[in-house]
Amino acid sequence: MGTGMCVPERVLTNADLERMVDTSNEWILARTGIRERRIAAPDECLSSFAVPASRNALEMAGLEGKDVDLVICATVTPDQPFPATSTRIQDQIGASRAAAFDLAAGCTGFVYGLSVAQQFLQTGWAKTALVVGGEVLSKIVDWKDRNTCVLFGDGAGAVALRAEDGDRGLLGTALRSDGSLAGLVELPGGGSREPHTAETLGNGRNFLKMRGSETFKIAVRSIAEISDEALTSCGLGHRDVTWFIPHQANRRIIDAVGQRLEVREGHTYINVERFGNTSAASIPIGLDELNRGGRIQPGDILLFSAFGAGLTWGAAVVRW
Ligand code: ACO
Repeated sequence: MGTGMCVPERVLTNADLERMVDTSNEWILARTGIRERRIAAPDECLSSFAVPASRNALEMAGLEGKDVDLVICATVTPDQPFPATSTRIQDQIGASRAAAFDLAAGCTGFVYGLSVAQQFLQTGWAKTALVVGGEVLSKIVDWKDRNTCVLFGDGAGAVALRAEDGDRGLLGTALRSDGSLAGLVELPGGGSREPHTAETLGNGRNFLKMRGSETFKIAVRSIAEISDEALTSCGLGHRDVTWFIPHQANRRIIDAVGQRLEVREGHTYINVERFGNTSAASIPIGLDELNRGGRIQPGDILLFSAFGAGLTWGAAVVRW
């Protein structure tokens, strides 16, 4: 029914990063396709972006907070470990009757969130749901680690969903996970497994760790396979896709997946050069940009695919 997004004002360019770590614009651009990313101010947190994104989605849908039955916020960077950031969103949009919870599935969080919301809508438990994907990864990135700090950005995107008869909407989803590979992308400290101590903080256990090149290879294969599975479950082929909106981790991953999927030339949406990897936010941000740009027509087939920490991966197919 509606889409929305919100990103921080501050732009951090590759030239800015050259002054912070031993890197270069050429390296970042060639290896990732990223030119700049948005970074939250010290006093901003996830809800600073998730709430405006949610309001924008509701406004486009012609809905008010009181119409919302369910708020799901997909994130790995909540305002605080608990309570859930979704309850702050629920409060600030005036969704006085809504259930609210957070969902942690890394960069796949938005696709997982859509699938969960669909179950609530299809059973009739909820009539209207808000699914938000948002991250403030800049607060868990080690700004001295060139392997990771050049990759990520902050922001939030949201969609308002409503149960209605007809053939529009979410046609199908496919979801997977493999916890045996949890160590590929993780925040090691700060949970019950490894509570923070002066020693763990000194060792940087409070920062995101990623084994990039191993993650890269699995990402390409997994996104291609899960996209294929989701499309097949809906009786659709690769060439039926009007817009492929993949998670924006790396331009090279997107290009490699695009080749395997045989999505039509010019039908893959890419904005990684402006936002970097915003994890759970990247698909709803891309969707909102396309939607507000008037580039999606009724009946168009959209394919969302993502891969991230967990490991998790998944895809969703929508008829607009
Ligand atoms: N500037 C310059 N050199 C760098 C930088 C940098 N910013 N970062 C790394 N390098 C160096 C490395 O140290 C390495 O040097 P060495 O060969 O002397 O050791 C060299 O560049 C190559 O490093 P690789 O890691 O092999 O580079 P690769 O081509 O794999 O690109 C990247 C790295 C961009 C991280 C890529 O692997 C990638 O995008 N991986 C996938 C990330 C992803 O999909 N994550 C999803 C989940 S994230 C989430 O869920 C929150």
